[in-house]
Amino acid sequence: MAIWRSIAAFAAIFGAVVDGSALFPRYGHKGLVESGKLRKLIKADALRKRAEKLEDIAYRSPGKNRVIGSQGHEDTVDYIVNEIKKFPDYYTVSLQGVELAIGGGANVTANNNTIEAYSVTLGPSGHASGPLVSIPNLGCEESDFPDSLEGSIALIFRGICESGIKVGYAASKGAVGVIIYNNVDGSLEGYSLQKFEDPENPYVPTAGISQGAGESLVAQLDGGAEIIVDLITEAEVKTSYNINAQTKGGDQENVIHIGGHSDSVAAGPGINDNGSGSMSILEIATQLTRFSVKNAVRFSWWTAEEAGLLGATYYVMQLSQEEKDKIRLFLDFDMMASPNYAFQIYDGDGSAFNLTGPPGSAEAEAEFTRYFADIAKVNHTEIEFDGRSDYGPFLEAGIAAGGIACGAEGIKTEEEQAMFGGAAGVPYDVNYHEDGDTTNNLNYEAWIQMTRAISHMTATYARSFNSLPPRNATAARKRAATGYARFKNTARFQKWV
Ligand SMILES: *[C@@H]1O[C@H](CO)[C@@H](O)[C@H](O)[C@H]1NC(C)=O
Ligand SMILES: *[C@@H]1O[C@H](CO)[C@@H](O)[C@H](O)[C@H]1NC(C)=O
Ligand SMILES: *[C@@H]1O[C@H](CO)[C@@H](O)[C@H](O)[C@H]1NC(C)=O
Ligand SMILES: *[C@@H]1O[C@H](CO)[C@@H](O)[C@H](O)[C@H]1NC(C)=O
Ligand SMILES: *[C@@H]1O[C@H](CO)[C@@H](O)[C@H](O)[C@H]1NC(C)=O
Ligand SMILES: *[C@@H]1O[C@H](CO)[C@@H](O)[C@H](O)[C@H]1NC(C)=O
Ligand SMILES: [Zn+2]
Repeated sequence: MAIWRSIAAFAAIFGAVVDGSALFPRYGHKGLVESGKLRKLIKADALRKRAEKLEDIAYRSPGKNRVIGSQGHEDTVDYIVNEIKKFPDYYTVSLQGVELAIGGGANVTANNNTIEAYSVTLGPSGHASGPLVSIPNLGCEESDFPDSLEGSIALIFRGICESGIKVGYAASKGAVGVIIYNNVDGSLEGYSLQKFEDPENPYVPTAGISQGAGESLVAQLDGGAEIIVDLITEAEVKTSYNINAQTKGGDQENVIHIGGHSDSVAAGPGINDNGSGSMSILEIATQLTRFSVKNAVRFSWWTAEEAGLLGATYYVMQLSQEEKDKIRLFLDFDMMASPNYAFQIYDGDGSAFNLTGPPGSAEAEAEFTRYFADIAKVNHTEIEFDGRSDYGPFLEAGIAAGGIACGAEGIKTEEEQAMFGGAAGVPYDVNYHEDGDTTNNLNYEAWIQMTRAISHMTATYARSFNSLPPRNATAARKRAATGYARFKNTARFQKWV
């Protein structure tokens, strides 16, 4: 049985290595960036062209999507890299490879009867055979498992926590394989374990089957039947890339870090989710080149967000404490153009949802609030700072974070209808994670507003970090040690699990 190690990765550096002399800000002949000037350069037409480009890329790909491992995702990464490399004097561009085992087919039989199954992303290739044992509850707690599963195949219901947690517990009890059955209609094709394996307790071959097939097996086991399962999984290890581009100008020790994700779900081209966020920041990165900056600005396009924030998690895992300390604030942008939008700011100070980010997060929320209220003069709401997107790993590492969004599968309230227009009682994005998430799904009015808000934040912090708490490495280390572990296993993963 081949066990695949998820942690292997490498980095390829393009362009010059970060220039230490850039500690002294270079203004050159370009004027220092200003919020108003940068915002004025953000045009709906440019955003539309980029969205159309992503849609073309998705539709050229066999699955008509930009999911990790697909041609559509590789072409998305190439497109972003080519766009950003048009400014070799302005940005240092690096690609960080993340090796991911992408699930493909699986062959499962139960007492020699074939069951339709798929192997899961992050799970190893392999062959396992043994008696099937049904795990009560959801398998999210160690106490759900019997003391020993030696030589068995564990059968576990999908839901609530990342499936990687379930497979980790089963493996630690000696299970040789796992079958996860769905908690909704449909197959588990393209499903991910959502969490890198613990190298001390590697994953075992895991296949996903339908809810009906799973419930039928549970009923047979409850009736006292013995079921011998034979399980073959096949995964293809593919390298997928995080893209990082950092200004050569500006203080390299004090970085404002702006991120979005480059992948889509399997269901469709993913133009609002998350084409919109990644294209907003690509457009801003392009327009920023007309200006100089005092603080370095780093843009990242993460891979494998939809498979469990894997690109961003890997990135933060690889950063030394010294490098973490350089990131004064990380801002995350996703779902920037939802058709039935609300302007939502992450509740970094915990005033609305009682989940507070690391020091600096409250100040970032205050700056977004100031922008929407005083500059754009539009309404806004707050959303829970739950780590559900790529900023989760940054919170866990004690790095200040913030962001805005326009809404996903949540339902717009009457109150929000009064504030933003649109339709109450309808999701912010009816096409969330569906094949209808195309360029027709975008609300350009929202997208422009959101992109200008990101421009404001980029320009503000590229000029000065004076509004943030002072950087204090001692405090940062302490935060990292206590951590934001509560974000693990909880709300952060609700969107996929
Ligand atoms: C699964 O079974 C099919 C049909 O028997 C076979 O062609 C395929 O190679 C098998 N796949 C694996 C991973 O064994
Ligand atoms: C499955 O089939 C093989 C041979 O076709 C047989 O030896 C074996 O006993 C069968 N297993 C079960 C559990 O029925
Ligand atoms: C907020 O959370 C803290 C710690 O998690 C808890 O002690 C406190 O009671 C909560 N406050 C409210 C108003 O829910
Ligand atoms: C969209 O992308 C952003 C930026 O990476 C990410 O934080 C967010 O979770 C994604 N949103 C959804 C709903 O997938
Ligand atoms: C803000 O929301 C209120 C309702 O709460 C609404 O009357 C007002 O028109 C909204 N303002 C804008 C600029 O949309
Ligand atoms: C850093 O933070 C720690 C703990 O909050 C504090 O004791 C220390 O004085 C701070 N150091 C500096 C240089 O501000
Ligand atoms: Zn998504």
